[in-house]
Amino acid sequence: MEEKQKKFYITTPIYYPSANFHIGHCYTTIIADAIARYKRLKGYDVFFQTGTDEHGQKIEKKAEEAGVTPKEYVDKIIENAKDLWKSLDISYDYFIRTTDSDHERRVQKIFKKLYDNGDIYKGEYKGLYCTPCESFWTESQLDENGNCPDCHREVHEVKEEAYFFRLSKYQERLEKFYEENPNFIQPVSRKNEMLNNFIKPGLSDLCVSRTSFKWGIPVDFDDKHVIYVWIDALTNYITSLGYPEDLEKFNKYWPADLHLVGKEIVRFHTIIWPCLLMALDLPLPHQVFGHGWLIINGGKISKSLGNYKDPREYINDYGVDAVRYFALREVPFGSDGNFSEEALINRTNSDLVNTLGNLVNRTLAMSKKYFNSVVTNPKVYENIDDNLTSYIKALPSLVDKKMESLKVNEALEDIFELLKRANKYIDETTPWILAKDETKTDRLKTVIYNLLEVIRISAVLLTPFIPETSEKIFKMLNTKETSFDSINDFGKLEENITLNESFILFNRIDTKTNE
Ligand code: MSP
Repeated sequence: MEEKQKKFYITTPIYYPSANFHIGHCYTTIIADAIARYKRLKGYDVFFQTGTDEHGQKIEKKAEEAGVTPKEYVDKIIENAKDLWKSLDISYDYFIRTTDSDHERRVQKIFKKLYDNGDIYKGEYKGLYCTPCESFWTESQLDENGNCPDCHREVHEVKEEAYFFRLSKYQERLEKFYEENPNFIQPVSRKNEMLNNFIKPGLSDLCVSRTSFKWGIPVDFDDKHVIYVWIDALTNYITSLGYPEDLEKFNKYWPADLHLVGKEIVRFHTIIWPCLLMALDLPLPHQVFGHGWLIINGGKISKSLGNYKDPREYINDYGVDAVRYFALREVPFGSDGNFSEEALINRTNSDLVNTLGNLVNRTLAMSKKYFNSVVTNPKVYENIDDNLTSYIKALPSLVDKKMESLKVNEALEDIFELLKRANKYIDETTPWILAKDETKTDRLKTVIYNLLEVIRISAVLLTPFIPETSEKIFKMLNTKETSFDSINDFGKLEENITLNESFILFNRIDTKTNE
């Protein structure tokens, strides 16, 4: 019987379109894209979703300031965001907008279902509210100055009639779920934070509607209320699959395999979201990974602080793959990491120019010079080859292990280790000396073949990370062996093909000294 194709459902958070996106949003999305592409390469049926979280008071205010309707305001930003994802080669399968009529209708149905089951009830809300973060806080959660613990701005006391979700009812089930699914939250430090700071002190019921603003999905049986942002936002992961109206796609892809989220919203994804799903009697996602932030000069990149450039400027200046590579390689996934143009330039020069670009250009130039770019492999091996070939054989499973545990930067490090070894192999085998000795022609052909094979195998493994570059390398190599299966054996590069003309993959970037 044919094995059923395995599915993989991965999501980014849906971003607030309160201003155009910055490199921090790109960071999450590039990593999600690399994971999605990696799974596709491995043969999974991948559903990769991103989108925008468009309702709420903050957007309402922004639109008012700009003198347009909220919908007009967000439409413009979404057009810009989609263009940005295109320039970053983001291969999403679905882009959800919370203003999509399908989503709005489905959220209303979900809300009604929870109400009918008794999991949502009407009460009065009194609380401390941070408008920029759209978050309610309890006294004990505030920072040392009595401000919002996330953005450190002032909070206001709010009192109004509201609907509540019975979060408290699910406390025990949630703790049990954590115990039985130790990998649900990654990295583990974030799980301890959730348990100790939020769950163990006791879950309070959650305010899920508002009457103080209009820009939201109305509660259809009580239209004085709009559905407060977290039910609207979190359910995007299932409404996009048709839930609760049309379950075909939903049955295929749900539960999500991986929700990638920034560390500040782990709380919503690992407490509120599982409890909502329990109330709906639906399976819970397999994993929530809370990554760190890209920071600039020690602080978060922030739309409200305005301390950033349009990411397209970096793409235009350095190329899409330099930006992707930086996001994927520079910061250990899970930790915070500094973003600066200088770090981006250094990373590009050291890895993409010196290691990858250099290897490709040196090898193709030698193949052209000695053999007119015709590829052959007489298999005249020497001991010195072992270090390289044994590493190549081990590499796919090494990378796989790292990718399965989402150590994306380490996966890239492992691939670049091969490229470094290959550059060293050129120095050790000294092809220019072999070329002077006619009895060594077959050895020289073998050396060049080995190098070309390193380049091909690395290019296959690099496809999820820097797809445009891999594509260029495949063109130069004139090879059809680009599948994941083709790297299980060393030696799949076709013999008797003629390589195409080589060109520079990455130009060295001069460090700006006048800044
Ligand atoms: N709309 C909510 C998410 C709802 S998901 C059901 C939201 N939006 S957001 O636009 O404020 O942030 C979304 C995500 O952007 C964050 O979780 C984080 O992943 C990412 N980042 C925003 N700034 C970032 C950095 N400076 N660095 C890394 N990621 C950052 O929260």
